[in-house]
Amino acid sequence: MINVITGASAGIGEAAAVELAGRGRQVVLVGRNPAKLTRVADRVKAVSGATPDMLTCDYASLEDVRRLASELLSRYEQIDVLANNAGVMTTERTRTADGHETMIQVNHLAPFLLTNLLLDRVKGRVITTSSRAGKTGRLDPADLNRDRRRWSGWLQYGDSKQANALFTVELARRLSGTGVTATCFHPGVIKTEFAPKTFMMWMVKNIPGMGRTAEEGASTLVHLATHPDGAAHPGRYFAGSAPEAVPRGMADPALARALWDASAKAVG
Ligand SMILES: NC(=O)c1ccc[n+]([C@@H]2O[C@H](COP(=O)([O-])OP(=O)(O)OC[C@H]3O[C@@H](n4cnc5c(N)ncnc54)[C@H](OP(=O)(O)O)[C@@H]3O)[C@@H](O)[C@H]2O)c1
Repeated sequence: MINVITGASAGIGEAAAVELAGRGRQVVLVGRNPAKLTRVADRVKAVSGATPDMLTCDYASLEDVRRLASELLSRYEQIDVLANNAGVMTTERTRTADGHETMIQVNHLAPFLLTNLLLDRVKGRVITTSSRAGKTGRLDPADLNRDRRRWSGWLQYGDSKQANALFTVELARRLSGTGVTATCFHPGVIKTEFAPKTFMMWMVKNIPGMGRTAEEGASTLVHLATHPDGAAHPGRYFAGSAPEAVPRGMADPALARALWDASAKAVG
């Protein structure tokens, strides 16, 4: 079974890749940095005996996402699991070469584009790493970059993770009856390379008992990729191994459709 995992060069994606490979899945590692991917590939080989395919892509370039999609389409007849896990939190307000605010592009528009380009080939599950930060999101499909509203790193990150949940809702609706399902999840508060310059992650890493391991963070992704739950609850947001109720802003079908349309326009 082919399991494509983005953000596989570190943290939750790395831990998920190693665990899934250990369970006999053929993992495909996607990341930005070849050296980091090679290190993860060595770990995968150690548990599975097989050297995984590695593909590089920088989500800050939609052209690069299109190149990644065509590479995946040329290599694999079928993708059983697409794990949209790559993500970033930054306190600096930057734009990509495509003109979008960096977090909304890396965390939402790039996986939106990749999923759409691969959709005919995905035969099993699309799993997106969201966050409980999405619960505080105030996403406006007409202002994805927050050009017209107050911007802060955590506000924009929250919008992008709310977008992950809404994307899952609308994707699941579009996939209804096809046998392909979409879910998303909150991994917990996890000690990874995530949000390196923030006070919150400093506390998570330095105050004993505050953060959990990458393996614990990956456990819900692995659950959704391997357990019947991953197919039984289309469109739902998981925390731990069960679906969790979310605020309306993460589940509203009308908002999810409006986001889909705005995202399709944004990625051209
Ligand atoms: N850690 C937490 O507490 C937490 C909580 C809730 C949700 N999450 C979510 O969990 C997911 C994984 O994060 P993590 O905690 O494992 O953090 P991480 O250790 O920083 O891993 C993030 C992964 O995303 C990749 N990535 C970042 N920017 C990218 C870009 N422009 N193009 C392509 N790939 C890019 C990174 O690649 P490089 O190795 O090249 O940087 C890395 O593989 C993210 O979606 C994050 O929002 C994390």
